[in-house]
Formats: sequence, structure tokens, C-alpha cells
Amino acid sequence: MANKAEIQHIAFIMDGNGRWAKKHGLDTLDGHRAGEKTVRKVMDLAEEFQIKYTTFYAFSTENWKRSQGEVKGLMSLLGASIDNNLAELHEKGVRVRAIGEIGAMPAATREKVDTAVSLTQGNDKSHMVIALNYGGRAEIARATRQIAAKVANGSLKIKNINESTVAENLYVPDIPDPDLMIRTSGEFRISNFLLWQLSYSELYFTETLWPDFGRDDFIRAIEAYKSRKRRFGGR
Ligand code: IPE
Ligand code: IPE
Ligand code: MG
Repeated sequence: MANKAEIQHIAFIMDGNGRWAKKHGLDTLDGHRAGEKTVRKVMDLAEEFQIKYTTFYAFSTENWKRSQGEVKGLMSLLGASIDNNLAELHEKGVRVRAIGEIGAMPAATREKVDTAVSLTQGNDKSHMVIALNYGGRAEIARATRQIAAKVANGSLKIKNINESTVAENLYVPDIPDPDLMIRTSGEFRISNFLLWQLSYSELYFTETLWPDFGRDDFIRAIEAYKSRKRRFGGR
């Protein structure tokens, strides 16, 4: 099925791995492993439905609050996932991008992310954005620092700071804002995700836990999007 809904960008808050694991009597990390498989499925669906941009919230600036074991497990899962999928993504023309404070990630994870980003930087068939050590507030604070530095060095005048200036100083300024944001697991909140970019995105929430998210859920979300009327403040 082609992308008749004209959706360019879908952003995912992949939530519910922990509850999925509990429900199945498994360890939390087994839930994250199952969630990682869902990312691959969703990338295939994105290809099939011709969604050019996808963003996946993989680790938030707040997720460091979790146990050391879970954080370490998530980091190594992430590295393993890059190792296992990078060649295929590259072959399919996917450009991998990362948003978040990647520099503050453990070195082993950071290096794998950097490898994925640099290997695929010439690709343009589709773009996969991974939000890692990402927080919307941190992103806006970082943009503010960059803008302040330009004012301080005289290359930007205060009176010329506008919405485009802020947008240009986000992590990946060349990616269109999400048309649709999907959050799984029945939580109805944004949890510090893409605060600037989601201003006019359509939001879709499902009770499905992320490891169970599949083709039917994906189609339901797209159908819901098609039934919405985006007004952007107009009539
Ligand atoms: C989302 O699943 C994955 C990450 C936050 C890394 P959770 O681990 O938050 O799953 P629940 O919310 O505990 O079920
Ligand atoms: C949001 O999920 C972050 C990611 C999916 C990476 P959380 O599970 O961390 O969010 P809260 O704690 O329910 O708000
Ligand atoms: Mg959660």
C-alpha cells in the first residue's frame, strides 16, 4: 500500500517494554530485546508505506534514573542492534541520524552511533532518526546556547532571532516536523519528546505495548491520521 496519506514523518515513543516483560514473566531487558525487534518491523513498514522520515525515542535524558543494570543493558542492546542492522540499512539507502546528547553517551555506544551516522550520511532514500540521551528541553537549551554564542560573537543580531533561528539550531534542522506522533502502551503524555517539533503534529495513542506493535496497529494509526483535519490554526 502506498503512502496516500502523504505522511512524510512519523515519530514513535516506543513505550511499554517493561510492562510487556512483566506480563510474560520475563526480565525487563527481555522486553527491550523484544522492543528492538519491533523497530526492525516498523522500519520495514515505513519502507512499504513510503514514509521518508521516522524518529524513534530510544533513550531519554530522564532514563538515566533507571537501575545501572537496565541502563547498561539498554546501551549494549543499542550497540548490538547497530552492529546487526547497519549493513542492511545502508544497503536500503537509509540515512541514520542521531539526536540527543550523544557526546555524553558511554564511549562504546557513541562510537557505534558515530559509525552508523557517518557510513550512511550520503543516503537519502529514507531517514531514520534515533533519539538517544534526548530531551526536548535539553535540545531547546542547547539551541539557546548556540544562538547566544552567535549574538556574543556579533554574527547574529538579537532583533533577527525568530522561530526559524530556533529551528535552525535544533539537532537535525533539515528534517521536517513529524506529521504523526505515535505513543504505545496507553500513556498519554509527551515525556520530553520533540517539544518544539510536535507543535502541530497529529498525536496517536494506543494501548498496545511496543513489543506487540505491528502492522495492524501501524495501519490503524495511519487511518486515524487520514481522518484528522489539520488546520494549523486556520479554518
Ligand atoms: C520504553 O519502555 C523503552 C525505554 C524507555 C528505553 P519502558 O521500559 O519505559 O516500558 P514500561 O513503561 O516500563 O512498560
Ligand atoms: C519515554 O518513555 C522515553 C522513551 C520511550 C525512550 P518513559 O517510559 O521513559 O516515559 P515516562 O517515564 O512514562 O514518562
Ligand atoms: Mg515507559
